[in-house]
This record gives sequence, C-alpha cells and structure tokens, in this order.
Amino acid sequence: MAGANPFSVNNTRVRRLTVNGESLVEKTIHRNAPLAVTSADLKAEMDTYREQLTAAGVPMPRVADSHVTDDTIVYLCEDGGLNLVERYEQPELLTNGRADVLTSAIDIIKRAIDAGLAIDPHIKNFVGEDADLAYVDFSPPLTMAYVEARCAVAKDTERDILRENFAYFTPYFLPYHFAGDFLNVDPTADRLFPALHSLLTDTGLLSGVPLPEFVSQARAIRALEDRRLQERIYLI
Ligand SMILES: Nc1ncnc2c1ncn2[C@@H]1O[C@H](COP(=O)(O)OP(=O)(O)O)[C@@H](O)[C@H]1O
Ligand SMILES: [Mg+2]
Repeated sequence: MAGANPFSVNNTRVRRLTVNGESLVEKTIHRNAPLAVTSADLKAEMDTYREQLTAAGVPMPRVADSHVTDDTIVYLCEDGGLNLVERYEQPELLTNGRADVLTSAIDIIKRAIDAGLAIDPHIKNFVGEDADLAYVDFSPPLTMAYVEARCAVAKDTERDILRENFAYFTPYFLPYHFAGDFLNVDPTADRLFPALHSLLTDTGLLSGVPLPEFVSQARAIRALEDRRLQERIYLI
C-alpha cells in the first residue's frame, strides 16, 4: 500500500514500512479545510481523542512516533494488518459465516457507545483478523471541540451537511451507520440488512427497531455521506 489510499476519503496517505524488523504504518494526514487552528493544536486534539478511545477500551494500534509539519500531521503506528474490506473481500463473508468477526467489530463500537464517544464505524476502519480486531481511524478527531472548529470555518452551503454528517458518528446513530456503510463497500448490500439487523439486535445495540425503519435510517446515513463526498466537503 503506497501513495493515494483507496480506503481514505480524507486525503490521508498511508504507507507501510519496516523499522528494526517491525512493520509500521505511516499515516500522513493532510489539512484540507481552512481550520483556524495550528497543526500542533490539531494533533493535540487527535491525541486527546485517542486517549478517550483507549480509556473506553477501544483497541487501537500503538503509536511509535508522531510529528507535525506546517500542513501535515504524521503518525507512525503499529501495523494492525489488513482491514475487513481487504481481508474478507465479499461482505457476505462477514454476515454469512464470519459473524464472529462482525460481532468483534460491533463489540468495539459498543465500547465507544457506552463511553459516549463518536467513531466512524465503516468496516474499513477495523483491521486484524478473526475476533482479534483493532480500530484505526482517529482523523479527524471526532470530539465536540473539533466539530465546532470545523463547522466554524464551513461555507454556508457546507455547514448543515457537515453537522448532519458529524452527528451520524455519535452513539445513537452508530448501529444504523455501521449497516449503511456496507452500501459503500457493495451497492447491493441491502440484501445483507436483515442479517445485520439480527446481529445488531442480538448484540443489544438495537432494541425493538423494526427492520424497515432500520433500513431506511441506514440508507439515509450513507446517502448523506455520499452527498458530502460528491460535493467535496472535507471533514478535515
Ligand atoms: N495502524 C494501522 N494498521 C493497519 N492499517 C491501517 C492502520 N492505520 C490505517 N490503516 C489503513 O489505512 C486506511 C486509512 O486510514 P484511516 O486512519 O482510517 O484514514 P482516513 O481518515 O483517511 O479514513 C484504513 O482503512 C486501514 O486500511
Ligand atoms: Mg478511515
């Protein structure tokens, strides 16, 4: 994996390198939005967010080193392996036969929900295999302070869509968002929604939500994110 990353929609560059025999992932985070904060402040917010996730029991690869330049933030992280889209290729595998893997991702999402933290539940943000998964995405930092800083520099035409998109990372929406993002992996993923609905209900993230309501909420969340991407509105 080098250069432009097919799994990044934030213009983050990810490359693998070996340092003293250890495989590491170098993440270079570019600033796209005209935020009124320095790169050092932005990095400090990412570090705070990582600490909050860690305290909530969300497993994340270790950071070996990090630094800022004028317009980028660079993290050198332990390599947690392939993400679930790369490793399992067909999303069916996850709903049909590898429910243990999905249950592990859902367990991580549940930890964020229980701590009141926002995360991006797309399956590409979970790396590892079998039930041994880690969550990798901490840019942008999904804290209230960051959301306010980002929305403060939004154009009038961007603000509502950004606020709605950020809201969808917060605990209430995460079960629907998790399912909706399967449509980003496979446009025909609707067929997986009954299985995802059952799994989310069995694991206690949903309770008493009828399937049609679940499906329409999941679709709406994905549609809004697709609209933001089409309009090239960056989260960071
Ligand atoms: N520590 C890591 N170990 C393994 N893969 C990683 C790691 N960090 C990032 N990646 C890979 O790079 C992709 C993009 O990284 P991410 O931090 O999610 O950036 P973005 O904010 O652009 O989505 C992830 O989907 C994952 O496949
Ligand atoms: Mg990501």
